[in-house]
Amino acid sequence: MTDIAVTLADKRGTLPPEDKLGFGKIFTDHMFVMDYATGKGWHNARIVPYGQIEISPAAMVLHYGQAIFEGMKAFRTADNRIVVYRPLDHLNRFNHSADILSIPQMDVNVLHDGLKKLIEIDKEWVPKSLGTSLYIRPFVISTDPFVGVKVADQYTVFIILSPVGAYYASGFKPVAIKVEEHFVRAVKGGLGEAKTPANYAASLKAAEVAKKEGYTQVLWLDALEQKYIEEVGTMNIFFKIDNEIITPALNGSILNGITRRSVLAVAKDWGMKVSERRISIEEVYEAHEQGRLQEVFGSGTAAVISPVGELSWKGRKITINNNEIGETSQKLFDYITDIQQGRVADKFGWTG
Ligand code: COI
Repeated sequence: MTDIAVTLADKRGTLPPEDKLGFGKIFTDHMFVMDYATGKGWHNARIVPYGQIEISPAAMVLHYGQAIFEGMKAFRTADNRIVVYRPLDHLNRFNHSADILSIPQMDVNVLHDGLKKLIEIDKEWVPKSLGTSLYIRPFVISTDPFVGVKVADQYTVFIILSPVGAYYASGFKPVAIKVEEHFVRAVKGGLGEAKTPANYAASLKAAEVAKKEGYTQVLWLDALEQKYIEEVGTMNIFFKIDNEIITPALNGSILNGITRRSVLAVAKDWGMKVSERRISIEEVYEAHEQGRLQEVFGSGTAAVISPVGELSWKGRKITINNNEIGETSQKLFDYITDIQQGRVADKFGWTG
C-alpha cells in the first residue's frame, strides 16, 4: 500500500438532491495530489481538502498546455458497495496520454491506491439513484514558472471527484449531429489519441457553430481527406449496418475509448458481428439510401451511449431509425449501466 498523507477537511459538505446533480459542477470534500520534479521523480502523494490551488502565472501549463486528464466513474451498487468502472484501464490510458505529451510516467498502483483512499474518505458523496455516479477526474499540469517552450521539469497530478447525473440534460434520447466539413479535431501524428486539453479546445468552435445551427454536436472526419469518420463530439462512434457493429479503427488520431472497448466486447459476447475498420461518410449515406443503416450511436464515459437520430452532411439530412432509440443502443446502454451499478453479474471483471 502506498504511503499517502491525509489531511482531512474541517467541514464536510453534503450530497445535493440526486435529481439536481447535473454534470461536473459539484465537487467533494477532498482531492488527491502528488508532485513531480526532475531528479526527484513523483513524490509527496497526499490527500488534502478540496480547494483553490496556487500556481505561478508563469506556470508552463497556462502558456503551452502540457497537460492531460482522464475521466472515469465510481458507482454505488444496489447492495451498497462502491465500485469503480475499469480503473486500471483508465489509469493505463492516463500514462499513454502522459507519454504522448512528454509527461513522466506515473506508478499506476500509487494512483489507484490514492483513488481508493480518496473515495473511501468521500464515500458519502457517491450517489445511488439510477443514472448517477461519482465522476472521477485525474489530471496533470506542468507547473515550472517558465515561459520558454520546453518539456517541463515540474508537474502536479490531481484527482478530483464530482457526483453527477446524466451527461445530457435532455436524457437518453437521439441527438442531431452535423458532419463537420470545415473544422478538424486531430491529425495523424498529432495529439488525437491523447486525452489532453488541446483536443477539447480544438473542438469548441465547431461545436459552437453546430449548436447555433440546431445540432447537439459534430461528427469529425479525418483531417487529410475529410472522408473517413473519426469521432462524434467527445465520443467514439458506432454504426449498425446490416446487423454488423462497425467503429472506426484506432489510427493515432482517434481516442482509444474505454466505453468503446466495452461496447466491442459486449457486442462480440452477444454474438454480433463487430468490426473496427476505416469507414467513410459516403459509405454511411449509401447504406442509409439502401435501407441498411440501422443505428448510429456515440460511446463515452460521461454519456455511456448516445444514440444519433439525425445526420447532416453537405446539406443532406438523414434520419436514422425514425429518430428513435435503436434496439442495440438501448440494450448496450442498459447492460453496461447494469454492470456498472451492480444490477447484473460483472462477467468481464470490469468493476473493482
Ligand atoms: C466522455 O466521457 O465521453 C468525455 O470525453 C466527455 C468528458 C470530457 C466530459
